[in-house]
Amino acid sequence: PIHPVILCGGSGTRLWPVSRKARPKPFLPLVGKRTLFEAAQDRVGDPDRFAPPIIVAGPQHQDLIEAQARGDHRLVVEPAAKNTAPAIALAAALLAPDDVMLVCPSDHHIADEAAFGAAALAATDLARKDWLVSFGIAPDRPETGYGYLHRGEELPGGFRIARFVEKPDLATAQSYLATGEYSWNGGIFAFRAGKFLEELKRHRPEMAGLVTEAVAGGIEDRSRFHPAAEPFGRIEGDSVDYAVMENTTRAAMVPVDMGWSDIGNWDALAEALAAEPGLADGTGNVALGRADLFGCRGVLAISDGPRVSVVGLEDVCIVVSGGEVLVTTREGAQRVGKLPGASNQEQ
Ligand code: GDD
Ligand code: MG
Repeated sequence: PIHPVILCGGSGTRLWPVSRKARPKPFLPLVGKRTLFEAAQDRVGDPDRFAPPIIVAGPQHQDLIEAQARGDHRLVVEPAAKNTAPAIALAAALLAPDDVMLVCPSDHHIADEAAFGAAALAATDLARKDWLVSFGIAPDRPETGYGYLHRGEELPGGFRIARFVEKPDLATAQSYLATGEYSWNGGIFAFRAGKFLEELKRHRPEMAGLVTEAVAGGIEDRSRFHPAAEPFGRIEGDSVDYAVMENTTRAAMVPVDMGWSDIGNWDALAEALAAEPGLADGTGNVALGRADLFGCRGVLAISDGPRVSVVGLEDVCIVVSGGEVLVTTREGAQRVGKLPGASNQEQ
């Protein structure tokens, strides 16, 4: 079977005031009835294809994870947040070298789950042949918050990545888009566990060594694994994109069209919601909770408190949650995390 590895991190500021430090994005039912974390588990829930998932998360989210766990799983409790490369390495070190892992962030929305399943199959086939495989998404704007994959030679079920560039600046992203030869990195990866650790050792030997120490000195407590805090704490944090994917010569990608969104801000969430069956009405408007819209376009209005009534506005988000009110243009949604209310949250 394929071994799913579900990553739960994140600080939850850009979707404030609904997302809070104590209850960040993965654990909220943002699109549909399921939380993003529940949906991430369901995508890899078929026991004929997938082993029970390894969930890697910080201690502050243990209770939310147990409350939203779909079934059998192994929870790896990170002693400190060191970004995705060490988190993935912990899981890889707990698997057998020939196990194939499918790394899944828990903060994405994927509308077409069948397309995800087909891509997972193609990606894990390549991973068995020692490719480090990323899911490639067709880009539709020069987003600077993503990784870019330059398509190289064709492989069975995918392509070699000629070059992986994490978070380029705007001018570079624009030039990539113009060539038509780049995909976004979807942040979903397939690796053979032993191959991932080998590449990490090659490109970040210190990190690889400290993860190995943390796992060797770790404690198993029922289905929870606690890596040793001292060596893990000494790791210099880095993402898998910078630490491994930019450096390896064995990067490959599987192109997939699956209605992917990383719901990075209210604008992206408004777009994902407006495309949901049952909500889509051609206006791009979405009203949830106590909200009424008249003569609006592209307006997202959500309230868990007082009724929100909106007339004649375009392309704005109005969010009332937990006693806080946010009003932003769709364009301004990127900057919500910098507002005092979002950045100075009580724990
Ligand atoms: N367990 C754990 N520990 N999970 C973490 C940690 C950590 O220290 N840091 C991040 N994560 C989880 C996040 O919760 C998220 O689900 C996933 O790992 C990716 O981390 P982000 O911090 O959201 O990364 P990003 O959005 O800046 O960039 C990544 O994703 C983009 C697509 O959404 C990169 O892989 C980009 O290349 C990619 O385009
Ligand atoms: Mg992200």
